[in-house]
Amino acid sequence: MEETKSREKFSSGLAVFFATLGSAVGLGNIWKFPYLTGQYGGGAFLLVYFCCILFVGLPIMLGEFYIGRKARKNAVGALKQLKPGTSWKNIGIMGVGAAYMIMFFYSCVAGWVYFYLFKAISGDFIGITMETAKAQFGSVIMGPISPIIWQFIVMAVVASILAMGVKQGIEKITKTLMPLLFVLIIICDIRALTLPGAAEGVTFLFHVDFNQLTAAAILTALGLAFFKLSLGMGTMITYGSYFTEDNNMFGTAVKVALSDTLVSMLAGLAIFPTVFSFGMEPGAGPGLLFMTIPLVFSQMPFGSFLLVAFFFLTAIAATTAMLSLVEVPVAYWSEERGMPRKKAAVVNAVIIAVIGVLATLSVDKASMLGNITFFGMGFFDFFDYISSNILLPLGGLFIALMMGYAIKREEVVMELSNNGKLKIAKLVSVYFFLIRYVTPLLLIVVFLNSIGILKF
Ligand code: TRP
Repeated sequence: MEETKSREKFSSGLAVFFATLGSAVGLGNIWKFPYLTGQYGGGAFLLVYFCCILFVGLPIMLGEFYIGRKARKNAVGALKQLKPGTSWKNIGIMGVGAAYMIMFFYSCVAGWVYFYLFKAISGDFIGITMETAKAQFGSVIMGPISPIIWQFIVMAVVASILAMGVKQGIEKITKTLMPLLFVLIIICDIRALTLPGAAEGVTFLFHVDFNQLTAAAILTALGLAFFKLSLGMGTMITYGSYFTEDNNMFGTAVKVALSDTLVSMLAGLAIFPTVFSFGMEPGAGPGLLFMTIPLVFSQMPFGSFLLVAFFFLTAIAATTAMLSLVEVPVAYWSEERGMPRKKAAVVNAVIIAVIGVLATLSVDKASMLGNITFFGMGFFDFFDYISSNILLPLGGLFIALMMGYAIKREEVVMELSNNGKLKIAKLVSVYFFLIRYVTPLLLIVVFLNSIGILKF
């Protein structure tokens, strides 16, 4: 009991909001969301994405908040406490495993972002052409030494922030940087939207085309909702365990989901008008971020400043997301294994950086370790695949089942209503309908599809 008392907490509702949003906003917003939205039918895809957030994302997020705040423990400890002597704790153990898997490759991409920020500040992109942009990206990812060094720098930053603790570390950083991220992204938006031909980019992003709404698009939207909101692996259990007593968790979940989607759309509005205005390919993924952006920004007025702003905001997004990923094992090691928090932060960062090198050295077929494969995937793709396509949906499914069937409804009502202070009777009925029937069913369909058993 004393242990519970001395445990850290966020200091206000605002801190809860920014920390949780900091987890949700990440590399996923800057390229994945805009690119997928453009590819799968713009406005129509967005509509499906909103439904996924509403019917799957929000119920699971609330479930994780409930588990975390009720138990006030790390992902494994919380499940042990709520369901002692059962195997529900394995959701937490799987979550800790998924956190490592995601971090192995996420830290690699974050390293590129830091490197690009450094390059932007030192004026490396002045006068680049299509060829040099490609060559620069190629040499950044092929390294082999520099991407590893940047990956280590990323992990050193993450470990230092986490070592400072929940309030002095996570809370302070997210409260300062998340508002800054909004300012920077809006500056980039203003510039992008006032470029000649910007409308074409906006059209690309938001045109409504229901013909493109295939089964694949729907499944993609569901998977994206999951990854975007940091669900299915105990991140939100861990952060929920630091929430204030009087936090309206329904409200927090809705505000975080809406703001996260807003950031994704603002990112799309900064990227696509720019890409179209310069007649570039709106192609996919890392290429868009790392090759196109330096190229087009270096060609426009105030470009050097905007380039720094853009990579800075991307670095912020990646860093605050990583805080929430690494906090899962840090909280687990320090609470379940009795390791001092500072030591847990450093030890976990070292583990991630060292194993993460495998991902960094296998990004491309031509990379040093590019020819080592598992089920046809290199380390980088393997870590990504196992975590996003298997561990996250499975974790989410179990959380939904636990909330819907293994926990007493009255207990959930008490916790979500802050012991009866909030009037949420109607919301709770809707909640239980979703978490019992709708959410698990949708997840089972996606899961079976992602492991190839169910084909559309
Ligand atoms: N949501 C983050 C992004 O969009 C990534 C992330 C952070 C995450 N924590 C997570 C994804 C937990 C899945 C689970 O980049």
